[in-house]
Amino acid sequence: MMMFDRLAEPSGDALHGVMARFRADPRPNKIDLGVGVYRDETGASPVMAAVRDAERLRIEHQDTKAYQALAGDHLFIEAMTDLVFGVDGPAVREGRVAAIQGTGGTGSLRIALELAKLAAARTRLHLGLPSWPNHLGLAEAAEVELLSHRYFDVEEGRIDLAAIEESADAAGEGDLFLLHGPCHNPTGADLTTAQRASLHATLAERGAVPLIDAAYYGLGDGLAADLELLRDDVAASPRALVSVACSKSFGLYRERTGILFAICASAAERDRVQGQLERISRTLVSMPPAHGAATVALVLTQPGLRASWESELAGMRARMLALRAELAALTNTAPMLRGVDREKGIFKLLPLSRDQIDRLARDHATHMAPSGRANLAGLKAGDAERFAAALAAI
Ligand SMILES: Cc1ncc(COP(=O)(O)O)c(C=O)c1O
Repeated sequence: MMMFDRLAEPSGDALHGVMARFRADPRPNKIDLGVGVYRDETGASPVMAAVRDAERLRIEHQDTKAYQALAGDHLFIEAMTDLVFGVDGPAVREGRVAAIQGTGGTGSLRIALELAKLAAARTRLHLGLPSWPNHLGLAEAAEVELLSHRYFDVEEGRIDLAAIEESADAAGEGDLFLLHGPCHNPTGADLTTAQRASLHATLAERGAVPLIDAAYYGLGDGLAADLELLRDDVAASPRALVSVACSKSFGLYRERTGILFAICASAAERDRVQGQLERISRTLVSMPPAHGAATVALVLTQPGLRASWESELAGMRARMLALRAELAALTNTAPMLRGVDREKGIFKLLPLSRDQIDRLARDHATHMAPSGRANLAGLKAGDAERFAAALAAI
């Protein structure tokens, strides 16, 4: 019998340690570059106006708390399908898209891995590093074999295309190959459209399945261009798994809202996959939570809310672009910021040692993850210069 006293000590979550140290820092000018949430120039992570209005509408009109379907809120699924692929997109028109509501991006990715494992017990996942640490955790939890390669050369500050291509060349039939959607976490460095297309061609040739993790759409090249990238991904692959989180782009982090799409080879295959997705979810969360999904469905389908959301999202992107330009102008002070205006989204990965990261916290009240990932959105108005000076001083 397994007893609690036989459990190993858990390894702590690095980011939660950073959050705790930031909270305990009494200095008023402290900077929080840790946890990956968007912040405005005052340091707040606000509820988006469209979300607030949609929530109000929802509270007024909801008439039950009874369970929803196993796949989730069908209005949410329809609205997200339309957003991501277009109602008249080829895969949708051909009836090849299975979809299930997931609890955030994390829950959606977990369902994806479980589906792959159900299809082949010895599923392998190709993952470029560094990556979002939870990718490693998810692979371990789902007992999927992890094959890692180098995505990014931190010292050189550039993508390691040769290593990525080598890994794709070695992918086997049915292997999963993880690709970040727009705005790579933690580097902000994205493949070009041509590089991505070439990678897809290799994966399709090898029979490997892209697992696309989209968490930051709208913050890269703009909403339309960012979604176009996902549509291109799907057009290039006979089969694909696409996880779309609503945490960042709708600011719904704690509402645990996301969706997993499985793009299938045929409509008949889609029906089988849909049934298996629902079966998998039944023992993970059973019927998924309603609130975030219903909110997103309203935001996407009510024209006024939709316009407000798109405009606020565009404003978030504009803030990141302005911050990146401001930091790029400070590369003389802090050369390690180079590339910051080419990279996208909220993150930059800095080549810092643990000791330097400790000194940033201790001597400059600037708190960031031990990996060297900085959430640039944590820089409030006027912080960029101080941050560059701190980087130069350590
Ligand atoms: C790369 C990546 N994927 C997925 C997620 C999904 O997060 P959540 O489970 O909070 O939706 C995140 C959030 O940090 C992320 O950075």
